[in-house]
Amino acid sequence: MSTFPPGMSGAGDRPPTADQQEYRSGAVVRPDDETPLAREAAEHVTLARRVTSITELPRPAQTRVFVVANQKGGVGKTTTTVNLAAALATKGLRVLVIDLDPQGNTSTALDIDHFEGTPGVYEALVEGEPIADLVQDCPTIPGITVLPASIDLAGAEIELVSLVARETRLDKAVQSYLRTREDAGDRVDYVFIDCPPSLGLLTVNAMVAGREVLIPIQCEYYALEGLGQLLRNIDLVKAHLNPALDVSTILLTMFDARTNLSSGVANEVREHFGSKVLTSNIPRSVRISEAPSYQQTVITYDPSSSGALSYLEAAREIAESPRAQEKR
Ligand SMILES: Nc1ncnc2c1ncn2[C@@H]1O[C@H](COP(=O)(O)OP(=O)(O)O)[C@@H](O)[C@H]1O
Ligand SMILES: [Mg+2]
Repeated sequence: MSTFPPGMSGAGDRPPTADQQEYRSGAVVRPDDETPLAREAAEHVTLARRVTSITELPRPAQTRVFVVANQKGGVGKTTTTVNLAAALATKGLRVLVIDLDPQGNTSTALDIDHFEGTPGVYEALVEGEPIADLVQDCPTIPGITVLPASIDLAGAEIELVSLVARETRLDKAVQSYLRTREDAGDRVDYVFIDCPPSLGLLTVNAMVAGREVLIPIQCEYYALEGLGQLLRNIDLVKAHLNPALDVSTILLTMFDARTNLSSGVANEVREHFGSKVLTSNIPRSVRISEAPSYQQTVITYDPSSSGALSYLEAAREIAESPRAQEKR
């Protein structure tokens, strides 16, 4: 999908994307007029064709562990976690989702039990129970396994402080689980760890367990505030606890192509982070926000909606990036 519609700031600065060339060559449905709505409709058709033509995505060279982090609440961490997981799983990949937020919204969207007392990430982190004994399979999407979070996790942030190896407990548990799956001939392709909106010990545990940080950035005013602090924390973890960690992926969420504000934020983020920013932006979409109330991801709730298509496209970019074939 083109990021900047013609005529909006930034559009003239870069060569046309493959989509734009295809569009201009008339290879796609071409509306008579050039209104933003018509353009959006045409882009939707092009994206739908491309996304549905792909039935399988390539497996990575080794398991990729993503930390979905941003200490701001409401920027789309949980939405991104569950929808990327669903997108990759529906294209044949095996995904482990770790819900590290006591709110348990990730568990809800994936239709996983997480009422108080449900064993989950708390038991893995604080009590050292093996993840294999705590995971549940997502009932609606084959290929997704979930380590749920319940409200019990709220106490973990404080309880962890007095435990030995408090920053590396999740890493040990995850590595051991991944080995078990690999030994059983059932290697996990992608792990997504959905962080709480803070930079405390839970998020540090995620950053030690992960190799790649995925930062969702909401295309709103103030979006970039606090990003510096997040990046400094990532550098600290990298320097002291996990040299392999880096920010590999930025995803622009709640993008509204019709507002200058969204385009302005997107421009600024792309200038700063360059190729780390995925080409596909996630639009602001009612279908995306409705899906969790039906214990669903938008990928299953409304697969042909613009929200589902953009997450499928983002998943394709992630799976096809050169990084996926690196062995590190
Ligand atoms: N692209 C989107 N369009 C519309 N609503 C969205 C979108 N992404 C997220 N939301 C909604 O915004 C709210 C916050 O998103 P969420 O993923 O829970 O953020 P976080 O996990 O960072 O706190 C939720 O109600 C979610 O449904
Ligand atoms: Mg969340």
